[in-house]
Amino acid sequence: MSNHFYYGGDYNPEQWPRSVWDEDVGLMREAGVNLVTVGVFAWAQLEPREGSFSFGWLHDLLDLLATNGIGVDLATPTAAPPAWLSVRYPDVLPVDAAGARYSHGSRQTICICSPAYLERARTVVTQLANEVGHHEAIKMWHVHNEYACHVPYCYCDYHAQAFRRWTEQRYGSLDNLNDAWGTAFWSQTYTDLSQVVPPRLTAAFVNPSLDLDYKRFSSDAYFQEFLMERAVLKQARPDLPLTTNFMGFFKPLDYFGWAAQMDIVSTDNYPDMSDPEWPVRSAMHCDLVRGLNKAAPWMVMEQTPSRVTWHNPNVPKRPGHMRAMSYQAVARGASGIMFFQWRASRTGAEKFHSAMVPHAGKGSPVWTDVVALGKELASLEDLAGTAIDAKAAFLFSWPNWWALEAPSQPAGGLTVDDQLMWLYRPLFAGGVNVDFCQPDESLEGYRAVVVPSLYLISEEQGAKLLSYVEAGGTAIISFWSGIVDERDSVYLGPYGGPLRPLLGCDVVEVSPLPVGQVLEVQWEDGERGTGELWAHVATQRDGQVLARYSRGPLSGRPAVLQTGYGKGRAYYIGCRLDHDSLARLYGLVPGLHARATMAPPEGHVERVLRVGRDKRYEFLINYSGSERVVEVAEGGTDVLTGRITGSRVALEPAGVAILRYPHPSGGRPLRRPQGLKP
Ligand code: GLA
Repeated sequence: MSNHFYYGGDYNPEQWPRSVWDEDVGLMREAGVNLVTVGVFAWAQLEPREGSFSFGWLHDLLDLLATNGIGVDLATPTAAPPAWLSVRYPDVLPVDAAGARYSHGSRQTICICSPAYLERARTVVTQLANEVGHHEAIKMWHVHNEYACHVPYCYCDYHAQAFRRWTEQRYGSLDNLNDAWGTAFWSQTYTDLSQVVPPRLTAAFVNPSLDLDYKRFSSDAYFQEFLMERAVLKQARPDLPLTTNFMGFFKPLDYFGWAAQMDIVSTDNYPDMSDPEWPVRSAMHCDLVRGLNKAAPWMVMEQTPSRVTWHNPNVPKRPGHMRAMSYQAVARGASGIMFFQWRASRTGAEKFHSAMVPHAGKGSPVWTDVVALGKELASLEDLAGTAIDAKAAFLFSWPNWWALEAPSQPAGGLTVDDQLMWLYRPLFAGGVNVDFCQPDESLEGYRAVVVPSLYLISEEQGAKLLSYVEAGGTAIISFWSGIVDERDSVYLGPYGGPLRPLLGCDVVEVSPLPVGQVLEVQWEDGERGTGELWAHVATQRDGQVLARYSRGPLSGRPAVLQTGYGKGRAYYIGCRLDHDSLARLYGLVPGLHARATMAPPEGHVERVLRVGRDKRYEFLINYSGSERVVEVAEGGTDVLTGRITGSRVALEPAGVAILRYPHPSGGRPLRRPQGLKP
């Protein structure tokens, strides 16, 4: 049976003598590998001297892989410029905020606005595409590697010039620019465009509006380089699917725009295995990536078979967790499970990173697990034509992330990551699946939308959310939402800006709390809960108060409200409610009800439902260290074992079950089928 999933990893044969290649392909076949990413850091081998190219070794490698039925995800090598480049053109090296220039010596030390870099990158990509682009082994284009990973911001003069051009395009005139950035504050008014500089090292807080635009510009600058490479590759082989590997919640790049230009969205998922909540983070990562381009498939381009080299300590995956995490991605729609890297390096900064073929070779348990997963995935039936059953959406926006975490906020402890985890955690625990959406996209079809501290929201985005609720949707909005517009200018009046009609109250002040201080919250039925981190100071308006602060200076003020708007309703949460209170609130919301069967003791079991026209699959994954028994609908067949299941399924530690059911109701319209190779 041919594998419906991509399975493989980064393959760097340039690090090994030719004799090892033969062993590699033999082992790849044994492990069921069908795709490898080649050439991702091979610029020095492809162009050892400027303008002098060497493709012979690559032809040999591609022939060998094709003969063995192994496909290639051919990468452009532009993330690792060769030593000669910066010697010949020193200004390809980036400059930090204090004006210091980086040196060559690792990878990705690039100024993405440097003309010499752009020219040499275009040349090597063009040569690569023309020279080997038509080789039968090549199944996918892989552009660059983890854009902006090590140097998200460069502050050099090329960047300054490009930033000025960017601001000119965005604002049209200096007056508009001064207005948008509020430069009357602290005497920052510009009288000539040449005075505009990147947010370099300066004494006090940098202008947050300038900083926000620099983040937009820097994300764009990388995107322009991606588009340049994309155009070259597409010209050579328009038929090949194209991707670049994302990093999930990577702050510097606004991936929504990027994903629209990709045929398959791919990501590198490396949760810190010492974090007990890694399954939650990893699930959220998958959901984000799936949501970036809802018309395209997605895949895991990299994960580690066991340890990485850059967490501290680099905790290995526990037995079974590599498999469990792989099935989590498959459950959440992934079309491929790939690793960094195929063979563990002997030298270099990542020699102790685990790999599919470890230093110990076939004697390592990692190898055994890699082979077992490859076999199992190859035998897994085709899940194509099914989609995640997500009845709710999570709103997420990069500009909001950038602005919300600027240093001049009321509370430094308010981070997007914490807010997401706080609001996502009870849904994960309750087996409720969500899609991530940006505030500009249509929310039609979702029964509920969670709005995690959307501090920055434009009038248009606000109007979209309002019309969604007006038409019958439900919004759950957490505090510090609707505060500024897209320029980071405060909406005056009680806080909430365009979202005010959904808040049910007038938020007249905010009150960040000292670390460790807990507020007491009382629900209308007398039940008590707590809040922390932050409290809005609000006066009830047209909303119904569901819970109030019951002690201290805010006593009697509303903490949680519900407001009807058009045919829908909104819930507004004014502080960071404790887990149970939040779960209680979600319990009121259609689309966010936890699944009854997920109450303890089944905790630590992830449940994901995929539905199609004539079947549905329920994935169960046990992350706990002990057996868990889960109640399920009767009559399922576990596709991993072929066994028909009753109303209870026992999962061993790290156990996985995938239950297939004939769809009872004939299915519902699919938002987007997942698990399809493009
Ligand atoms: C990233 C990179 C890889 C490698 C791994 C190590 O994902 O893309 O080249 O450095 O991290 O975890």
